[in-house]
Amino acid sequence: MSVFRTKTVERSIQDTDEPGHRLRRDLSALDLTIFGVGVIIGTGIFVLTGEVAKEKAGPAVALSFVAAGIACALAALCYAEFASTVPVAGSAYTFSFATLGELPAWIIGWDLVLELALAAATVSVGWSGYAKSLLGDLGWDLPSSVAGEHATFNIPAALIVLIVTGVLVLGIKVSSRVNAVIVTIKLAIVLFVIFAGLFFIKSANYHPFVPKSVPTPSVQGSQEPLVQVLFGYTPSTYGWAGIFAGAAIVFFAFIGFDVVATAAEETKKPQRDLPVGIIASLIICTALYVAVSLVVVGMENYRRLSIEAPLADAFKAVGHSGFATIISIGALAGLTTVVLILLLGQSRVFFAMSRDGLLPQWLAEVHPRFGTPARMTVIIGAIVAIIAGFVPLSALADLVNIGTLFAFVVVSIGVVILRRTRPDLPRSFRVPWSPVVPILAVLACIYLMLNLPVETWIRFVVWMLIGFVIYFAYGQRHSRAGEPAVKPTVESR
Ligand code: ALA
Repeated sequence: MSVFRTKTVERSIQDTDEPGHRLRRDLSALDLTIFGVGVIIGTGIFVLTGEVAKEKAGPAVALSFVAAGIACALAALCYAEFASTVPVAGSAYTFSFATLGELPAWIIGWDLVLELALAAATVSVGWSGYAKSLLGDLGWDLPSSVAGEHATFNIPAALIVLIVTGVLVLGIKVSSRVNAVIVTIKLAIVLFVIFAGLFFIKSANYHPFVPKSVPTPSVQGSQEPLVQVLFGYTPSTYGWAGIFAGAAIVFFAFIGFDVVATAAEETKKPQRDLPVGIIASLIICTALYVAVSLVVVGMENYRRLSIEAPLADAFKAVGHSGFATIISIGALAGLTTVVLILLLGQSRVFFAMSRDGLLPQWLAEVHPRFGTPARMTVIIGAIVAIIAGFVPLSALADLVNIGTLFAFVVVSIGVVILRRTRPDLPRSFRVPWSPVVPILAVLACIYLMLNLPVETWIRFVVWMLIGFVIYFAYGQRHSRAGEPAVKPTVESR
């Protein structure tokens, strides 16, 4: 059936040389690692740590980070193998096209909108909250109607999206330079939290490390994790169930290592550098998260942590408001790069999809001077700015998680399939102990998905159904998968 036709890896690589659709190759392994860290460290650690410690896991929030980190590490190995085999913009979308076929690829591309565009909007709303609080510290109070989570139109959120879009249009090298500066600030702030915080730790705050499970009968129905509904557990919080429910939420903090793979076509030596970039950025972030979360719950009792700005507020609680301001500035800078790279990833995935004809092809033209898919970037930026302006997205962060976990599941399955269907392809990075590691990745991601609330599952299914309708109304008819390949005008790499 044509909906399951695959696109060969050779064809995918060849398409990257199509005149007018060629991206500039500027990035090294270090650039990619910085990109990874730039997109990974954000709302997850700066905001969600407080909520998860307070409401789900207690001081054991560090274990939630470890659990989510293990699932991500397994998936990251699969992404690294794929990215080293199919170094083409589009990440999970491209990988699925090479293995599962056109319709699954479209579904994944559609699903990635949740991970990338929706996450960018979510993070920019978080950014506006920090901006509001910082401007407040400086004596310039923005009214709630124009900034923060419950604004009628969230001006700072929309503005930051538009500024970042401008940077992206100017070129990948410019974006990566801006990113490198900000990532340095962000890392400095995170290290500052860890080392300065060490002096304020009270060991009493670690007891009990895993608080006893408490029934929460009020959280029933659509807000209950699916796993509790399926197995008929009494809804509860804390304890081990709390750690895993927390892991499904702090998973948000890890989103982004896979975005490194979307920069494949802009990497000088993708086969070698992509696995390095993906795995190095994940290791760095996991270590930092565990350290930060241990320090923060050691500084302040988990029941008293703030859910808006837990890192900054933990320092306020020990009498250091000045430190809190510095941390807020760092968070603001940090969240900016997250929005930048999520939008970069989104434009590259749609770029790949429209080059394949599943979205209108005129969107995929590369700007002659900047070497970026400028038209695509501007359109996506405008839409995300509008969403960020109008929608309070805190509830939708879970939707970002489920969408991303689903993509991880598909990519992990894809690795096993591609090993069977194309054992001949050169793989500069191979997942160890395949198929055991990919299968564990699938199971770990599905387990985290099951720990998300029922309402998230419903939203996810509705989003995917909309995707099906669009595919049959547009993508299937305009797909170029049946056409002969265009001859490359330069020597193939
Ligand atoms: N991992 C990113 C964050 O935590 C999306 O903001």
